[in-house]
Amino acid sequence: MDDPDPGSRGDASAPWQTLSAGFEQARAREDSLDRLVEWPAQRALLGDVTGLAVLDAGCGNGAKIVQLADEGAAAAVGVDISGNFLDVPAGVELLVGDLSDLAAVPGLAGRRFDRILFLQSFGYAADGVRALRTARQMLTEDGFILLTRTQPVRYALEQAERNGTSLGEEYFATEPFTYRHRGWDEQVVLTKRPYTMSDLLNTFSAAGLWPETTVEPQLSAEAAERHPHKQAVLNAYLGILVFKLRPLPTAWLEERLDQH
Ligand SMILES: C[S@@+](CC[C@H](N)C(=O)[O-])C[C@H]1O[C@@H](n2cnc3c(N)ncnc32)[C@H](O)[C@@H]1O
Repeated sequence: MDDPDPGSRGDASAPWQTLSAGFEQARAREDSLDRLVEWPAQRALLGDVTGLAVLDAGCGNGAKIVQLADEGAAAAVGVDISGNFLDVPAGVELLVGDLSDLAAVPGLAGRRFDRILFLQSFGYAADGVRALRTARQMLTEDGFILLTRTQPVRYALEQAERNGTSLGEEYFATEPFTYRHRGWDEQVVLTKRPYTMSDLLNTFSAAGLWPETTVEPQLSAEAAERHPHKQAVLNAYLGILVFKLRPLPTAWLEERLDQH
């Protein structure tokens, strides 16, 4: 079978054993873009979770899934490879595992979820198409996947600034590049694989999913005034993409698989 997604070989996850503490500290800051922009947009697209089963794949310390349990989710499960979890209230399950194959995470086999989240974690799947196909099979009938990724333009611009090249050269580059996140832990080197918008969209369709809604969240006017340095970041690098992904009919996916 041809590789349906040239961008599907994921970013390495190993650095997260070291990086997770720095990431959570940065995320908890009052002016973090996750607090100001990303989580409010993710939460809004998720809608009412009362009585629903929710799985957060790449959940970090588990704070978001704990909030969803507080807001009425009937089952609240987080999976993360780092195992750097908060103490959680009864009813919330946090599992150490790899989001590349959620069905293989101990405790998840055979379970179904109304909402499956990949919030800034999907890029670490060893094979993005496979990870999403597995997640799709774990959805209930009316279920959907909420997935966020950094705008690929951001990495392309940063690389162009670093290498003295152009946006297009870096956007369409295919070689992995190393990356240090200044706000998390500069000692930790992440390896990233470039991806384009078409890589992302083709990954979704190869996994039998379609983007029902896509959002590119920005700061409110009030928050932009309070945190002009964050508005400057978004002005330069755009921010993240938030996708609400619905399963295409199974027949559609089977037909596609037969073609390969
Ligand atoms: C950028 S953080 C996002 C955390 C959280 N979803 C949020 O929105 O705040 C990426 C998370 O993915 C986790 N991660 C990386 N590779 C993973 C893998 N293969 N399986 C499960 N989790 C992984 C990291 O440990 C980290 O917690």
